[in-house]
Amino acid sequence: MQYQKYQTKYSNQFPAIQDLAKKAKQRIPNVAWAYLESGTGDETLLKRNREAFQDIQFTPQFCKGHLEADTGITLFDKDYSSPIGIAPVGLTGLIWPEAELILAKAANRLKIPFCLSTVATETPERVGPLVGSQGWFQLYPPKSMDLAYALLDRAKQSGFHTLIITADVPMASRRERIKRAGMRIPPKLTSSLIWDGIKHPIWTYYTLRRGLPRLRTVQDYAEQTDFRFVSGFVGNRLGGTLDWDYCKALKTYWDGPVVIKGILHPKDAEKAIEIGLDGIWVSNHGGRQFNGAPAAIEMLSSIASVVGNRASIVFDSGIRTGLDVMRALHLGADFVMLGRSFLYGVAALGKYGPDHVAYIINDDLKNNMVQLGVSNIQELKALN
Ligand code: FNR
Repeated sequence: MQYQKYQTKYSNQFPAIQDLAKKAKQRIPNVAWAYLESGTGDETLLKRNREAFQDIQFTPQFCKGHLEADTGITLFDKDYSSPIGIAPVGLTGLIWPEAELILAKAANRLKIPFCLSTVATETPERVGPLVGSQGWFQLYPPKSMDLAYALLDRAKQSGFHTLIITADVPMASRRERIKRAGMRIPPKLTSSLIWDGIKHPIWTYYTLRRGLPRLRTVQDYAEQTDFRFVSGFVGNRLGGTLDWDYCKALKTYWDGPVVIKGILHPKDAEKAIEIGLDGIWVSNHGGRQFNGAPAAIEMLSSIASVVGNRASIVFDSGIRTGLDVMRALHLGADFVMLGRSFLYGVAALGKYGPDHVAYIINDDLKNNMVQLGVSNIQELKALN
């Protein structure tokens, strides 16, 4: 694997996700950084998502002889090398041109899932062959069921097997940071944006080579492909109408596991199980939607006790270390996803980025499992 050539160098230069974030910030325009990093409102929840992990501690046990940590795991009857995956990120090409292609190839190599967003900048048809059998597809539920089914057909035909319905975007949120950074929809070529591009020549070169980021999956359904039209289309035709009957219809239509993403309330988890969904994705959208919500990790154990073994639990929001993954698994998650971290990796190191992110998280997870005295994920989850 090409990445292995650089592993020692990267491990010393970028030992933590925050090191990659710092490098990513230098390599991409301010507006792209603000888009990736932003929370909502004054971003209290963004900080809370991180801080809440610090309160979860383990008491280690020793004298267990030689321990080696095995991170292999099965989810929805499919084996993964590790309980981590790449969460859906929209408008991905703004962060790094062709990021979806880089992430899909990496997921296939690493045997971890990659979830493609409805509003990604590459299509399921282009990503599907690269992601192999590691593809999940995320749906922002369109108002029209015909459009929903058309998107699902495309995802299915492109090889995506697990469907994620995002529930936590009843409407677009107020992202003050991206407004301050000068992000406009449609994008406007102001002198400060041009200067931003000149200061980031590698990003600009790859962006010009691929073409400006466009929502290439959904633009097929809009009558015009310019960004203003497509973003208006996204606002008008995707979201705002999701209810349990809609979820039930998607579950009936999709041949494969269906997971509802953005759940924070145990009653919603109960409802999702009642209608037969296979997974509950506990998340607050990485602090990007409702600034008044609790940290996702704070809701995990109460949801896990409601769910029991009736459905699988996926978790995200604020994961930056293997120790965080361990905390989430211990509190009841079966699988953990990371959004920003993988994009920091791509923006910092291009095609070598995702492997290094996975390495940092896995190495830390394995190390902490041994420090604690457990050798596999089942033992970790069974600890009390
Ligand atoms: C997201 N997220 C997201 N979720 C989703 O269901 N569809 C989407 O298109 C997007 N787009 C998106 C863009 C950006 C820039 C970010 C940072 C996030 C949310 C994402 O899937 C995930 O829930 C969070 O990123 C998890 O939090 P961390 O890992 O970023 O802290």
